[in-house]
Amino acid sequence: PVQVYPNQEVASIGVAKRIANVIREKQEKGETAVLGLATGATPVKVYKELVRLHKEENLSFRNVVTFNLDEYYPMLPTADQSYVTFMNKHLFDMIDIPKENINIPDGTVPVEKVQEYCEGYEQKISNLGGLDIQILGIGRTGHIGFNEPGSAPNSGTRLVTLDDLTRRDASRDFGGKENVPTKALTMGVGTIFKAKEIILMAWNEKKAEIVKKAVEGEISSDIPATYLQLSDRAEFILDQDAASALT
Ligand code: F6R
Repeated sequence: PVQVYPNQEVASIGVAKRIANVIREKQEKGETAVLGLATGATPVKVYKELVRLHKEENLSFRNVVTFNLDEYYPMLPTADQSYVTFMNKHLFDMIDIPKENINIPDGTVPVEKVQEYCEGYEQKISNLGGLDIQILGIGRTGHIGFNEPGSAPNSGTRLVTLDDLTRRDASRDFGGKENVPTKALTMGVGTIFKAKEIILMAWNEKKAEIVKKAVEGEISSDIPATYLQLSDRAEFILDQDAASALT
C-alpha cells in the first residue's frame, strides 16, 4: 500500500504516532518493543516528533530496544559521520532509553570477526522476538538499509560494498566522495522482511524517479526496494513530491 501526504511534516508525525502506539501497546503488556531504525535525512522529523512525545506526552522508551539498519565500515562511533553520532544527536540523547538497549552495527569490528558479529546481530534480533516495526528510507540506487543493487531477497546482516551513487550522495557529509568509506555493515533484505510492520518513507522530488521504480517497477535485485512489493506488511509513505512520478 502507498499513502501520499501533503508534506513530510504531516507524514512524519503520522509515522511517529505509529511507533509510539507500538511502544505503548507493548508497555501495557509489560513487554519490550523492538524498533528497527534508520539514519539519513528522511527520518529526522520522525525522531523530532518522538522526542516531543517523550517530553510533552510522557512517552517512555524504558521498555524499548532498538536496532539500527546500518553503519559505515570502518567507522569509529565517535566520528562526526558515524550513525552512532547521528542517532545520539537526533534521538537517543533526548529520550530515556537505557544505553544498553541501543544496537547499531559496530564499525570497529576487525574484519576477520565481521561474519561472527553479523550473525550475532541477527541472533539478538530474533532472540527478542523480531522487529515489531522497521522504518526505512530509500537511496537513489533503490537500496534499503545499505542493500545495494544485486542484494538477495533472503540476505542477512553482512559487510557490503557501497554503490558509487550512494558514495556520491554521502560526499557532502564527508567533505568529498574520496573520504566516504567504500563499505558498510547492513541488516539484510531478509532481516528487514521479518519485521512485523515495514514503513518506507520518501520525501522530495529527487526521490520521485526511484520511488516510481520501487512501487511500480518489476521486482528485481536491480532495485532492492522492489522486494517490498512482495510483503503485505510493507507500506510506502510519501510526500506529494516523492509520489509525483507515480501513475
Ligand atoms: C540509512 C539507510 C539508507 C537511507 C537512504 C536514504 O540508515 O539505511 O538506506 O535511508 O540512503 O537516505 P536519505 O534519508 O539521507 O535520503
